[in-house]
Amino acid sequence: METIALASNWNIERIIDSLDQHGYALIDEAYSSTYLSDLVTECTSNLDRFRDAAIQNGVVSNIRSDHILWINDELVHAQHHIEQLNGLAQEFNRYFYLGIKEVEAHFACYNAGEFYALHRDNPQGKNGRMISSVLYLHEDWQSDWGGELRLQDKHEQWHIIEPKPNRIALFQSDLLHEVLLSKQQRLSITAWLRSHNSIW
Ligand code: OGA
Ligand code: MN
Repeated sequence: METIALASNWNIERIIDSLDQHGYALIDEAYSSTYLSDLVTECTSNLDRFRDAAIQNGVVSNIRSDHILWINDELVHAQHHIEQLNGLAQEFNRYFYLGIKEVEAHFACYNAGEFYALHRDNPQGKNGRMISSVLYLHEDWQSDWGGELRLQDKHEQWHIIEPKPNRIALFQSDLLHEVLLSKQQRLSITAWLRSHNSIW
């Protein structure tokens, strides 16, 4: 992976320390407002291409009701976020020896009434996902709109994380978490820093 300059307000030491101590970290005001609004536009202008996340290979699951769009080269603004995460991955590899080689990501949209029940992103430690990240994109969020990320940290303490716009939540992919029912449209990019491709 090439070296990427991280956004200047990303305090790498604090992020690494928080991941080390708790298994998760938050980056608030992650990006400039111009870049964030480019991302929001890229997300909202493609909403008609989002697919039901609960349907995978024709099988319907009832644990989630959000809609997603996998990110490819054509989504240029989202690609920039992925490059940033690649830069972060290099730091994590240096400190935690995670062997991260790639980042995969999708946009996600939870419409009012949608949720993602309790799960782990790497339930059996086999799919290569080491660190999960979620960047929240909606322009405004109020604390009574639901849609919180509820996460159990590495000491089994529960945390309720508000999906504040321009916030990135980072957490170990083996931790238990859920997205509580959202009362408004909730937009994000979920990305996984992974050591290898899925062997499922
Ligand atoms: C996921 C997920 C959390 C969030 O996409 O796997 O758990 O806050 N997302 O959107
Ligand atoms: Mn998840």
